[in-house]
Amino acid sequence: MEAMLLPVAWEIDQVLDQIALSGFAIIDQAYSHEYQQELILECTENLDQFRKAAIQNGVVSNIRSDHILWINQDQFPVAQQHIQALEQLSQQFNRHFFLGIQHVEAHFACYNSGEFYALHRDNPQQKNDRMISSVYYLHDQWQENWGGQLHLQDKQGEWHIIQPTANRIAIFQSDLLHEVKPAQQQRLSITAWLRSGSSLY
Ligand code: OGA
Ligand code: MN
Repeated sequence: MEAMLLPVAWEIDQVLDQIALSGFAIIDQAYSHEYQQELILECTENLDQFRKAAIQNGVVSNIRSDHILWINQDQFPVAQQHIQALEQLSQQFNRHFFLGIQHVEAHFACYNSGEFYALHRDNPQQKNDRMISSVYYLHDQWQENWGGQLHLQDKQGEWHIIQPTANRIAIFQSDLLHEVKPAQQQRLSITAWLRSGSSLY
């Protein structure tokens, strides 16, 4: 069954205000229960294809221990709808902040028990064209004592602890410092970047 996702009813003005003020925003209950369930299924059915995120071009780094699966144009029709929603959001960001976003790139991520992503920025010193990062948490439920929080420094320098609450989207400027604390349960998400360039690096 295909769930109708779009149009989504997000409080866009609040998101824009929050981004302008502190560089990050939270959308709770982002999608219908039906869509959320379809997305969980699409993710968990493909867990055997996830690969260690820390290995790039054969080089291993110790900054992160999660596993990821890139979402390509012609694969994962359910996740594709989330990307479309983010493309619509990008138009708002472009209109209000002149970010010039042209492209959304995304992967599923799975943090198994003990896995983490140490302190980093997605776009350090404007080295790449990632303008905005977003993380949708797609496990069924999350308890506060399971770890796996996103720690994020806002643009005023204040630190925030964001729980990976199911069906939540955390949105933040890609130049902000953040980390993912070790999770004690399987933590599933889609990370997406709203990029100002084309689809190729
Ligand atoms: C990332 C990231 C945060 C999270 O994928 O770059 O920082 O909460 N994710 O999963
Ligand atoms: Mn990150």
